[in-house]
Amino acid sequence: IAAIIIAILISYLLGSIPSAVWFGKALYGIDVREHGSGNPGATNTFRVLGKKAGIIVMLADIVKGMAASSVAVILMNLQFIDENNLVTFKLILGVVGVIGHIFSVFLHFKGGKGVATLLGMMIAIHYEVALLCIVVFVVTLLISKYVSLSSIIGTLSFPAMLLFVPRFQTSEPLLVIFGFFLFIVIVWTHHKNIRRIMEGHESKTYLIKSKKE
Ligand code: G3P
Repeated sequence: IAAIIIAILISYLLGSIPSAVWFGKALYGIDVREHGSGNPGATNTFRVLGKKAGIIVMLADIVKGMAASSVAVILMNLQFIDENNLVTFKLILGVVGVIGHIFSVFLHFKGGKGVATLLGMMIAIHYEVALLCIVVFVVTLLISKYVSLSSIIGTLSFPAMLLFVPRFQTSEPLLVIFGFFLFIVIVWTHHKNIRRIMEGHESKTYLIKSKKE
């Protein structure tokens, strides 16, 4: 049990790493929380510091989600948990990582919206479904131009695919249950975006710039 508590702490700390804030401050002298949407995440880093910085922060957040979830593999290799429980612990530790990102110990328990970290966890658990979620995200973004809406729909597509696509149907009901739970978490972290979308002033992101712009 001590090993599991230590694992939870490690995953929480990994998730807590505020890549957007540290990277922005260290390399640009800019705190992204004071600009754009004010969110310390990859999207706002793109917005405030540009493409290169955005990609780096996005990758860092994805990797920390993968790492937080993969702490379960270390637990298994050290024989603290059984192979049958691997997915369950990947899920639990992944969720802990996402919570770390949203309530970061380094940002006075505030943080980002959890999307890139969640994607990292999805990759660690089921990379094929995770890749399809990215496709859903990109298609939604191309159509709607809203990163936030695309994040929400992309998150929902994870449990939906596990539930409805025969190829991915899983013997792990917990995966689907956690998937829907995380969807609710992501809707909650995006409540301000949802209000802005309904009021018509959420900022838009154009993946493909038309020549007129
Ligand atoms: O991942 C966060 C994204 O969905 C929205 O970010 O900065 O537009 O609120 P932002």
